Formats: sequence, C-alpha cells, structure tokens
Amino acid sequence: MSSPKIELASKEKTDTLALGFFSKKAEKKDKKKGPPPSPEFHGTASSDLTALQGRLQDSHHFTGRRNDTNLLRFYQYGAYTNVLLVGLGSASKFKTETVRQAGAAIFLAQRREKLSGITLDGPSLFANVESKEIPRYLQAFCEGYGLAGYEFTDLKQEKPSRFKPSALYISGLEKNPANAKAIQTAAALCESINFARALGDRPGNYATPDLLSKLVGDMAKSVGVKCTVFNKARIIKEKMGLLMGVGQGSVEEPRFIILEYKGGKKSDPPVALIGKGITFDTGGISIKPALKMEEMKYDMMGSATVAGTMMAVAKLKLPVNVTAYIAAAENMPGGKAQKPGDIATSVTGKTVEIINTDAEGRLALADAIEYAQKENPQAILDYATLTGAVIVALGTLATGIMGNSRELIKRVEEASEATDERVWELPLFEEFDEYLRSPFADIKNASDLREAGSSIGGTFLKFFVDKKIPWVHCDIAGSGMQRRDKNYMPRNYAAGAMIRLNTHLLANWERIKPLS
Ligand code: BES
Ligand code: MG
Ligand code: ZN
Repeated sequence: MSSPKIELASKEKTDTLALGFFSKKAEKKDKKKGPPPSPEFHGTASSDLTALQGRLQDSHHFTGRRNDTNLLRFYQYGAYTNVLLVGLGSASKFKTETVRQAGAAIFLAQRREKLSGITLDGPSLFANVESKEIPRYLQAFCEGYGLAGYEFTDLKQEKPSRFKPSALYISGLEKNPANAKAIQTAAALCESINFARALGDRPGNYATPDLLSKLVGDMAKSVGVKCTVFNKARIIKEKMGLLMGVGQGSVEEPRFIILEYKGGKKSDPPVALIGKGITFDTGGISIKPALKMEEMKYDMMGSATVAGTMMAVAKLKLPVNVTAYIAAAENMPGGKAQKPGDIATSVTGKTVEIINTDAEGRLALADAIEYAQKENPQAILDYATLTGAVIVALGTLATGIMGNSRELIKRVEEASEATDERVWELPLFEEFDEYLRSPFADIKNASDLREAGSSIGGTFLKFFVDKKIPWVHCDIAGSGMQRRDKNYMPRNYAAGAMIRLNTHLLANWERIKPLS
C-alpha cells in the first residue's frame, strides 16, 4: 500500500483547492440563540476569499470545527472549480497534532469525494506557525495524510473498490531543503508504520514466528539492514530457556531475530531495541477466555514496532548504531506446553517459576534482554503488549513506560512531546520485587495479586536488566492496537505506535552514560 505523493507546488495543478479554517467561539450572549459563528481564515486574503467568507457567513453549514471537511463542488475560486473546506478547530489550540489530523481529514475527504489530485493552500494551514517551525508542522501534516489511508485487505478475495487519490500539492510554502526533507521524512515514517501495522493485522496463521522472521528479513534486505535469524536449535544452543518454554506447546517453532543497523561511529555501542513477538497468545495452559481472543494476534506488535523503527532508521540513514532483537513464539496449550509450576532457565542461568503461562511476554523478553546485554549496548528499550492492566490504567491513549534511568525516561518523554505519541510513566517501586519472590526459583513470572499489573511486569524485566545499562520498558498493550481517538489511526487496525517517537529519539541520539 503506498500513499499518494506530496509535492510543494507554486501553481495550481488540480481542480480542487483545500482551504483551512479556524472555528470561532460564540459570544456569550449568542450562545443559546442565533446561528453559530462563521469560521476564521488566517491565510492570504483575496477577493475570492472575501466572497467565499460571505457565503459561509450566510449558510452557517461549516464552522471550522476540527477535522470537519466540506466539499463545495463546482464553486469557482480563481482557477479552481471545487473548494474543500477543512476545519482546524480553535486557533488557540493549534499545534502539530492539529495539522497531523488535518492531513488525515484531507486524505479521507479526497478519497470519499473521489478527487484524484488536490492543492492545499499552505498559508491557510500554516499561517500561525513561526517560519523556523514550518518543516516540523509540515512533517506532521504529511504523516497524517500518509497514515490515514491504511487498510489491510491482503486476505480479502473481494477487495473493497476504494478510490485511490494520486497526489497532494501544497502551494505557498518555500521549496527549501528543510521542507523537502520534512516531506521525505514523513513518507519514510508512514511506510515504516504501515509496514508494522500490516505485520500486526496478519492473523496468527499468516504470521507464525517463522513467517514473521521472513517478512522482517525481506524488509531488512530492502533497506540494507543486516538480519540474522536463530532457529530452534540455535535458540536452544544460546540457552534461551524462557523463550523455548513459551513456544514449546506449539507446533510452530520459535525464532529469534536480530537486525543490525550501523549509521554511527564504529566505536559507539549500539542502542538495543527489544520486541515481544508472540505471534498468537492463547494464554497457554492458563488459557484466556474466548471473548476477543482473536485480538491476541496483535501480541507481536512490540516486534512490529522495533522492525518498523529499524526500517525508518535505515531509510532515513540516521547517524546512530541500533540493534533490534525480536523474540518470537506462539503461546499455545498442548501436550508439550509448559505448565504452571514448571521452572525454566534464562540465557544467564536465572531460574523462573512459571505461575501463569499467560505471563509469557516477559519470559520471551527476559531472554532477549540477557542476550542483548552480551553485546554491551549503551541503552535498552523494549516494546511489548505486556499487560491488560496498562489498558485499564491508560486506555489506548498512551504507552506505559517505566525504567531504571531518569535520563533515558526523560529522553523518551521529550521524544513523546515532539511527536505527539503519548507516554505515561508508571513506577517500579522496590517493594514490587517482593511480589515476584519464589520459594522454588530465583523469581516467579507473575504475582498472586492482581494489583499493579503493569508495574509487576516491568519489575520482572528489571530483574534481568544489567544495573549499569539505562533501560526503559514500553507497554504498548493499549496504544499498539485498535485506536478510535485519531483520524490517522484507521479503527479496527493495528496502530503502529511508538515508531514516530523512536525515530525522533534515535535521530537526536547522544551517547548515554552507564548508570553508576
Ligand atoms: N498479551 C497479554 C497482554 C494483553 C492483554 C495485551 C490484553 C493486549 C490486550 C499478556 O501476555 C498477558 O496475558 N498478560 C497477563 C499477565 C498476567 C497473567 C500476570 C494479563 O495482563 O492478564
Ligand atoms: Mg499472555
Ligand atoms: Zn501476551
């Protein structure tokens, strides 16, 4: 699936012009009675515009409400014959997320109205943006435009016959290198995010650990990233007993996937990204209830996030060394499945009492963390649909983050701020360590209590993290799946969370000091 091209253009090339409008608050006295206030225009004035504003004032049908679009067909406006009105909401709340959603709103209107090409009047959207900030806003706009059209139809024999818009031209913006780069960056991000989404949307039988390793391997090859896949024999040889335990109930063998990108100095240790790749999570012997179990095909979104991040990092040729590790397995009940009470052993020999076979993600991640640490990374970030509890706490709106390093958490929060991908820190209180004490093994994989589920998941991982390595765990169980909160996140499909954030984080990466 490729998005329509976006170009900066000085002259009209299409029949349709898109104009952004801000909504105005009704005066107090007019609030109850009277028509809604007509929208405000902040772009370049013209006689056509004055006429249009007069018409809008009379008709009251369009108020500039955020993400509302309205097509005026056969409305002569300069050389254009159609005008698409685009609502931006209140000017006082205008930010990058506003234009990202405006991008999506324009794409969706373009598809709905079957407009092959559209010209956006740049100043009407970017009028309130300081000139040095224009590239950042432009990138956000293009992200929304490029993400909104995602759908997963690979497995439909009858494809929905949707109109495919071909191009968007943006007028009135300088054709400088920074703007060109913003468009390019957004395109690379959208491709990578849509790649990750499609991995997630594949059902378990089309994304077994082996198939996942092949899909990720093909992607890696296409962008020049080195990919190594460990099969079952190699996983056993590397002593990944926790990952093996998770996969042992399935006829599908586990895979361990390593992606290496070297854009930084030779002497710089890599940043390690670790992804949970449970291609389907039935819960194993501690089996899940039937309701919504099909959503557990998304239990590899952590691995999709790291694969998508590697794709973006390579496409953008970022000056940093990054290695990704994906622990992939299918969690099934069966005659050979691991049982509650079983004790499994990690890469470095730590023993884990399996209290609940449904707390499998942390097991797969723990082996990946220990394996990654053998290669002396400067920092570790892991991504996992780890706990239902994070959805209870944060809904689908934010990724739950926790870790051992203020500095790294701060960097993730800054990247979150810059990319509008929400994160929210949850604690790793020392007292939580007690919840995972086992009389039989070094640690157990789940607590007897239901409380603080996401923090307990993080606490389990903390046990395997080298105390000197800055580490942040990202629980994307809510943020990684279907979203209804944003028009560039097509509902019913995987979100592709944290790839914009990660790419920003890595684009601005500076070497981080070990913890003392
Ligand atoms: N994959 C699930 C977490 C999950 C739940 C993701 C709902 C997305 C939506 C994970 O493997 C799991 O089952 N976690 C358990 C842990 C518990 C047994 C300690 C959970 O959250 O209930
Ligand atoms: Mg589970
Ligand atoms: Zn899981």
